[in-house]
Amino acid sequence: MSRKTFTCPDASCRRCPRLSAFLDKNRRLYPDFHNAPVPSLGDLDAELLIVGLAPGLKGANRTGRPFTGDFAGDLLYGCLHDFGFSTGEYKARPDDGVRLVNARLTNAVRCVPPENKPTGDEVRQCGEYLADEIDAMPNLKVVLALGGLAHNAVLSVLGQKKSAFKFAHNALHELDWNGRRILLLDTYHTSRYNVNTGKLTPEMFVNVFKTLSGIVNP
Ligand code: URA
Repeated sequence: MSRKTFTCPDASCRRCPRLSAFLDKNRRLYPDFHNAPVPSLGDLDAELLIVGLAPGLKGANRTGRPFTGDFAGDLLYGCLHDFGFSTGEYKARPDDGVRLVNARLTNAVRCVPPENKPTGDEVRQCGEYLADEIDAMPNLKVVLALGGLAHNAVLSVLGQKKSAFKFAHNALHELDWNGRRILLLDTYHTSRYNVNTGKLTPEMFVNVFKTLSGIVNP
């Protein structure tokens, strides 16, 4: 069987008029920023795919690497390292040498949305890339969804009923996608709001990684 390939969308993607206009504005305001769809990090051969929400304006949209320079990245990259899913020291820069191990990191929406809020249509448009990406991951065992939006985006691209798989922190759902068994693990998003309000504590996030470690090894 021939191997499927996947290429992340580049700066020429203009599927979402609102996001394209926001990128154009940010190219003028912040010419040194990445200001384009943020490509995934990690290998397509990985067994683990982590799906976030969307790049933060001055984080991933600036640096060009998912979660890099965003508050949400601190807890995530820390756990990836502590559980062996990455090597190198995370320094919030795309050239810090961090490499993912048996893991890939992406976002449900690859362009920065105004106020961190993508619309349903933008999630659907970008979902076509997510579906192709999942299809190109032959060894994929588990998708870790950071937050309800990522959870729903994954269910939708895998053609699953949302009512059958309710989002819950540290819940594990077993999905059948075209005869492939894929597990979906949920966590609250590592956003500043969730961490500062205690909705997601570092201990709760570590527990999700403990669940993950029972399924895939780095
Ligand atoms: N940065 C990202 O790349 N994704 C998120 O979901 C949050 C911050």
